[in-house]
Amino acid sequence: MCGITGYIGYREAYPIVVKGLQRLEYRGYDSAGIMLFDGAKAQVSKTKGKVADLEEITLQSPEKKSGNIAIGHTRWATHGVPNDVNSHPHTSVSGDLVIVHNGIIENYDTLKKELISRGYTFQSDTDTEVLINLIEEVKKHENCKLGKAVQIALTQVTGAYAIAVFDTKKPNEIVVARLGSPIAIGIGKDNSEFFVASDASPFIEYTKEVIYLEDEEMAIIQVNKEVAVRKVKDDSLTDTKIQQLQLNLEQIEKGGYEHFMLKEIHEQPKAIIDTYRGRMLADEGIIKMSGVDDHIEKFLNADRIIIVACGTSWHAGLVAEYLFEDIARIPVEVEYASEFRYRNPIITEKDIVIAISQSGETADTLAAIKLAKSKGAFVFGVCNVVGSSIARETHAGAYTHAGPEIGVASTKAFTTQITILLLIALKLGKEKGKLSKSVFHSYLQMLQLIPSKIEELLAIDGQVKHIASIYKDVPNCLYLGRGFNFPVALEGALKLKEISYIHAEGYPAAEMKHGPIALIDENMPIVVIATNKGHYEKVVSNIQEIKSREGKIIAIVTKGDITVKEIADHVIEIPETEEMFTPLLTTIPLQLLSYHIAVLLGKNVDQPRNLAKSVTVE
Ligand code: M6R
Repeated sequence: MCGITGYIGYREAYPIVVKGLQRLEYRGYDSAGIMLFDGAKAQVSKTKGKVADLEEITLQSPEKKSGNIAIGHTRWATHGVPNDVNSHPHTSVSGDLVIVHNGIIENYDTLKKELISRGYTFQSDTDTEVLINLIEEVKKHENCKLGKAVQIALTQVTGAYAIAVFDTKKPNEIVVARLGSPIAIGIGKDNSEFFVASDASPFIEYTKEVIYLEDEEMAIIQVNKEVAVRKVKDDSLTDTKIQQLQLNLEQIEKGGYEHFMLKEIHEQPKAIIDTYRGRMLADEGIIKMSGVDDHIEKFLNADRIIIVACGTSWHAGLVAEYLFEDIARIPVEVEYASEFRYRNPIITEKDIVIAISQSGETADTLAAIKLAKSKGAFVFGVCNVVGSSIARETHAGAYTHAGPEIGVASTKAFTTQITILLLIALKLGKEKGKLSKSVFHSYLQMLQLIPSKIEELLAIDGQVKHIASIYKDVPNCLYLGRGFNFPVALEGALKLKEISYIHAEGYPAAEMKHGPIALIDENMPIVVIATNKGHYEKVVSNIQEIKSREGKIIAIVTKGDITVKEIADHVIEIPETEEMFTPLLTTIPLQLLSYHIAVLLGKNVDQPRNLAKSVTVE
């Protein structure tokens, strides 16, 4: 949560940092702020609201927009309500030091009391204002430079941080540090300029060279000097690794779509191809995945697979439970990372833990990984963001290669996670002798057809939009599915509630009789996934039960279906495929339905209220 960015160099910093903040708004958008150093003093502008509101207020004060050094922040509120005062940047009591911070200082209350006893006063309710004053106090007490003061102060805090700190008395550097929240440093040509950000998106048009700080690392960034990365703990130098960015500008722009979410829904055919590209050789009947191949004995001898994830990634994990058990005959447990980490779970060295996360930064998933590792499990990561904390914390893994997902509601992350998990399940199924060569081969051929089937489905957008216009004003909605499509029902409900704020619940279709059926009347729409394989007849019976109670049925059926068409109020047809691949198709109309309902209701689809893209706090 929260995005930070900064610039130091020869260009005007304001447009770079403001654009960077816009790209980071997926991390939070409760308030925005910027500090520019104009050569004489620090000019701070900040406001409740979005980066657009920040631009609005700086419009009135051009003097606050000039300078070659800046740090900026877009906030997802933790300590203190979203208002102007609690917005970042925060300034120390003397006015000398300025900070932007992503994370939570857990012992801020104790530190604050201590600082108050030494005469410090506070304007805001934030933990960040405590941190900047702690740095100021250390700097005074030790009579040291900013870098040293930051290093000592950070040894006194517990919690998580990604910070950028500036000293108006030594205005030729920005000090950055991280623990638990990401920091990327972009390096300009010949060290003539530097960029700092929560991810690399704010600086991709300026440089491809990047350093990702590891936990408990810090750096003092000065123009014309190489970046030296140090350990916060003891100030020792580390091996600085400069990496080449793979990201390009086109990937993080809307490309003609009205919203990122719509763009990302439409990107799924390509994203899935990118996920299996080079891994699945369908014609040769081969799946190559180095993260699995290098540890194949562990996978083949695993007693159990435990999947840990949150939100949509957890839903992908539930699909994987069906896949691994069905195809590879390995017992699977799927856990909310937030519960798992505090449950004292029983984990052995013969367990494989698979952590799924689009962002690779979700705090609970990261903590679950650390716990599993401490108990001796082998941990495999399925992440989208390359170089993310989870990707680095796991023993091995596979990237989904879906490209940046900017809409807060996950879409292509879900289908590409399922694709990776399918590849692993199929590979293990074959290696364990559970799938014959010919069946394995035919599955690969079928999987290869999925992207074109999704293209076909995307063409029915108009039909889905029409259904959305009929149901956009309902207060509640139910989603039902069975087997592989039960998690899709959960995911459909999550998509609807998070972007349209309509209350929605997903259930296994057969569970309806155990409670939810009481909700059904003529006003309740029920989205039922009723594809022709699996439990078709049983789901048809559920549909009959709903109709007897006058509920409105929106059914997702297989092309050519006759039975459901006669009973349902609306049917959306998906192309025929093998049952295990259906989640990759059935989820598409559910994404479109939520999208259109939210747009028709005038909601902010890409930045729904109260949410943030990566949940880096617990
Ligand atoms: O980055 P992660 O996949 O770890 O994120 C997990 C959840 O926070 C995320 O899926 C969230 O539920 C989305 N907003 C769902 O659309």
